[in-house]
Amino acid sequence: MGMGSKLAVAVLAAGKGTRMKSSLPKVLHPLGGRSLVDCALDSLGTLTPSHQLVIVGYGADQVKAALAHRPQITFVEQTQQLGTGHAVQQVLPHLAGFDGDLLVLNGDVPLLRPSTLEELWTVHRRQGNAATLLTAQFDDPTGYGRVFCTDDHVVTEIIEHRDCTDSQRQNRRINAGVYCFSWPALEAVLPHLKAENDQNEYYLTDVVQDLAPVMAVDVADPEEIQGINNRKQLAAAYDILQDRIKDAWMAAGVTLINPASITIDPTVELAPDVVIEPQTHLRGQTQVGCGSRIGPGSLIENSQLGENVTVLYSVISDSTVAKDSRIGPYAHLRGQVTIGQGCRVGNFVEIKKSTLGDRVNAAHLSYLGDATLGDRVNIGAGTITANYDGYQKHPTVIGDRTKTGSNSVLVAPVTLGSDVTVGAGSVVTKDVEDDCLVVARAKQITLPGWRPAPRRATPDSPQ
Ligand code: UD1
Ligand code: CA
Repeated sequence: MGMGSKLAVAVLAAGKGTRMKSSLPKVLHPLGGRSLVDCALDSLGTLTPSHQLVIVGYGADQVKAALAHRPQITFVEQTQQLGTGHAVQQVLPHLAGFDGDLLVLNGDVPLLRPSTLEELWTVHRRQGNAATLLTAQFDDPTGYGRVFCTDDHVVTEIIEHRDCTDSQRQNRRINAGVYCFSWPALEAVLPHLKAENDQNEYYLTDVVQDLAPVMAVDVADPEEIQGINNRKQLAAAYDILQDRIKDAWMAAGVTLINPASITIDPTVELAPDVVIEPQTHLRGQTQVGCGSRIGPGSLIENSQLGENVTVLYSVISDSTVAKDSRIGPYAHLRGQVTIGQGCRVGNFVEIKKSTLGDRVNAAHLSYLGDATLGDRVNIGAGTITANYDGYQKHPTVIGDRTKTGSNSVLVAPVTLGSDVTVGAGSVVTKDVEDDCLVVARAKQITLPGWRPAPRRATPDSPQ
């Protein structure tokens, strides 16, 4: 980048967020799989500031840990939360000698689009402003700072809601908490803030009185700049985010049936002609292939589903399902399960940390844990891998085409070869070679002509 296009960013994330009534720092509250502060940082999009400063204070260690996946961040401690202006004062030593622009974001403004920030910075440079800030006209501006400006958007003053007179509160133009400053200009006035307001805090917004020109840019979509101060606003932001995600997937060729009952994390990827049925929730690093039908009533988390997979009333986490497999109703796959192609898993089947080959059926009432199954295995109704001896988990290995009878228990560690048939009700404790029938149950005893001894009927016993 050439001269005059240098950018730094400071994200304010030191406040407790008293109005959340939570022990978790406000900026760490999750919004669709990401924390609020992560959302704020994601709104940088393709902007690559040379300095990424995050101001931390309340719960600093927690906030740092939550952002550990972003090594480019420098954390700046604000040990006492004396206001947004005081927060930005903490970056002074970090930006000594920097002569570019500083983008300031509130850590609790999660819905900004990258294009909006790019536009803000572009306008800021084109107009040669000392500061440029995002504003909007809100029907209900309660709680926000009011921006006072001339007809041509030159900002004269920002007054917090609580410091406004009744007539000032009629101003519906609000401060989004998103600013672009010329750093040398801000650096010069920042040390002179005074805490003369209702909260006795140092307000960043007060610098506008000492800078010129300061311009307001009305954001095209006011939803973007909603701040999160309480749980109700958190819920509203979630709905906005969900609408955006769902609109985008529908535009990309995904059918959502009753979208209001569906939730999809921003990290999810869906192929065209996927159908998502009601009451279905897709979370984390989940991908779904073409033509798959998920739901109703399913939760898929950090899982990869291939093409033409169907999932009905089931929970799948941290697992992979290959194409043409049918999962459910009522299946639970968890902890690194791999399901091959064309399998049938469902009707009350739980699978944990197991691999199934292609065309395996486990269609009724089973538990498979720490198991490796070949191709075309048939798991009979009620088959259980007894994988836990009270201390350790043990593996079960089942070869191709092997069939387990109903209600068999495979006591791990145990290996069944291929083409094995396990008789119903067997408790298999020893390895079985290929091509064997194994029956491990008490022999049936049949006594011909046997009858129970006659008993005298009592008045209230059934005859
Ligand atoms: C702030 C603005 C207000 C604007 C609103 C937009 C000021 C004085 N007011 O008000 O004009 O309409 O945002 O959402 O700036 N923080 C710190 N250290 C502190 C105080 C706050 O890091 O000492 C952080 C908070 O963690 C939060 C952000 O700054 O992420 C904003 O603080 P908050 O108290 O929510 O400000 P608002 O009252 O919403
Ligand atoms: Ca706020």
